Amino acid sequence: MSKALDGVRILDFTHVQSGPTCTQLLAWFGADVIKVERAGAGDITREQLRDIPDVDSLYFTMLNHNKRSVTIDTKNPEGKLVLEALIQKCDVLVENFAPGALDRMGFTWERIQQLNPRMIVASVKGFGPGPYEDCKVYENVAQCAGGAASTTGFDDGPPVVSGAQIGDSGTGLHLALGIVTALYQRTLTGRGQKVLAAMQDGVLNLCRVKLRDQQRLERTGTMKEYPQYPNGTFGEAVPRAGNASGGGQPGWILKCKGWETDPNAYIYFITQAPVWAKICNVIGKEEWATDPNYATPAARLPHLKDIFAEIERWTMTKTKFEAMQILNKYDIPCGPILSMKEIAEEPSLRKTGTIVEVDHPTRGKYLTVGNPIKLSDSPTEVTRSPLLGEHTDEVMTELGYSPEQISALRTAGAI
Ligand code: COA
Repeated sequence: MSKALDGVRILDFTHVQSGPTCTQLLAWFGADVIKVERAGAGDITREQLRDIPDVDSLYFTMLNHNKRSVTIDTKNPEGKLVLEALIQKCDVLVENFAPGALDRMGFTWERIQQLNPRMIVASVKGFGPGPYEDCKVYENVAQCAGGAASTTGFDDGPPVVSGAQIGDSGTGLHLALGIVTALYQRTLTGRGQKVLAAMQDGVLNLCRVKLRDQQRLERTGTMKEYPQYPNGTFGEAVPRAGNASGGGQPGWILKCKGWETDPNAYIYFITQAPVWAKICNVIGKEEWATDPNYATPAARLPHLKDIFAEIERWTMTKTKFEAMQILNKYDIPCGPILSMKEIAEEPSLRKTGTIVEVDHPTRGKYLTVGNPIKLSDSPTEVTRSPLLGEHTDEVMTELGYSPEQISALRTAGAI
């Protein structure tokens, strides 16, 4: 079956996490992704957090599936010529170097345009134009600067970063959307363009509801669904809301049977208004369905802590899966707190290709997260990440280099 991005060639100049997540997605949609790395070293993640000596780390393999790897020293004059040939052949150049690195290499936007006016140049940077535009940035810096950390955690504790890589993988997703949008516009204009996704912007986009709350707080001085209401205090900025739901339906994480020994024996429970009467029935508090102190969402807001304590008395008598089964029968929204071990072993995720087992020539079998976006006419087959420079000869041949030229460039240290 054909793939959505068949025929699109990506010059993948990305490293670490944010850029590679973007180009991996494009590869899963069918693009030919040619990853350019430095000979001898490669993407630094190949050797970071290794669990097997001298074998590409899971960090690298899980971010670089379905790509080809070529080694080019882009600071070597002959290496530069190879990169120029690739720029002329590809549709998109994706990079997430530190600010200015591509320019310092000699590949300014103007130079790239000269070589290929149809080229889309897509970049991840830590910050957009402004006071921090020259800074190097990693995941947690973006979570802090994008508003996620100040709004995550509990009121009486410090800011907390999330395990979800919203700064890196989140920005990679934003960039991928920018790239396919630019490819679409190019079909109309014939021109390439620059695409920028700044990590601070990507995180802030995902924290949109907190900027909503900032304005609500400034207008009214309070937010009734926050745990600070009614007995705590609100300051000038959106406070950390613990496990309160970010939406209009109050929710909280509650203990389930076994919580004393299992750190993940918990369930997320949402007291959705339309099923309030059913919730009251399930937990044995039928009288709350008609009690004026509990019967309406507004009446319940000052009592949320007591309400969740009462619901928890019920959830603690059930495992998280038993509670799920019972609550789902009544359409009461809830979700088990799943550990990575439970997720890795979940058969339904294997079936849909969201968790995939991949075989690697030096690592053997390992699990990865497959394409979370499913297209009915462009199914994803996850193939292993490339070894360093595995496709250098193949790609050089496609560019028109003879075996002798390839060998001479290798001797000169250009590839
Ligand atoms: N041949 C020759 N040189 C190469 C090369 C190649 N194939 N590939 C990279 N390089 C060079 C670059 O030109 C750069 O050289 P310069 O500093 O002389 O200009 C150098 O390698 C290192 O690049 P840099 O991006 O500065 O790497 P770093 O390890 O110091 O910083 C980051 C890493 C992630 C902090 C930085 O790249 C960054 O801020 N990126 C943007 C934000 C981002 O994506 N962050 C999230 C990462 S998950």
